[in-house]
Amino acid sequence: MIAYLAGAGFLRPHSSIGADLSLLTMIAAFVLLTVGVVLARSKRYGAHRWVQTVAVVLNAVPVVAWMIRSFWLHFRPGLSSGFSNSVQALATVHAVAGLIGVALGMFVMIRANQLEARGENLSRYKTSMRIAYFVYLIATALGVWVYITLYG
Ligand code: HEM
Repeated sequence: MIAYLAGAGFLRPHSSIGADLSLLTMIAAFVLLTVGVVLARSKRYGAHRWVQTVAVVLNAVPVVAWMIRSFWLHFRPGLSSGFSNSVQALATVHAVAGLIGVALGMFVMIRANQLEARGENLSRYKTSMRIAYFVYLIATALGVWVYITLYG
């Protein structure tokens, strides 16, 4: 699986399949999250919950399957002595934003599904949902920036 993902990518001359699939999956997940926000604003909460659940899970797949390993191998070495170049700094800020986004997104998604199953009100999670969406926005934008910096 890792050997396949490390193979030559299809979007840029020096990218990998893992990087290209991650890019496309993350953009699709962010589009879904945005559709979910629109559904919530139009008070279609059932559809909103389903769409956000799928988006959060979809988003977590490339993080677990590709990004954490890629960060560990290519960007973490040497971090203890400071940033050796601007890509390492960018990738690290991205990774921190991404970790916060995944943790918050997973928490809100699991909690919302639990409360919904019990028929309880979810309005006290509104602020957390808004913050999670904003963090996903930042992490996705930084991820696209990392991709462009690495592969042009
Ligand atoms: C909300 C969560 C996240 C989003 C939306 C996100 C988004 C992206 C995107 C769109 C890319 C460009 C595609 C690519 O080069 O693979 C990327 C790259 C990358 N991300 Fe993330 N990411 C997230 C979380 C993380 C986390 C938690 C880590 C590490 C702990 C991480 C580390 C990386 C690394 C190292 C790359 C470059 C991978 C490579 O090209 O080999 N990301 N991210």
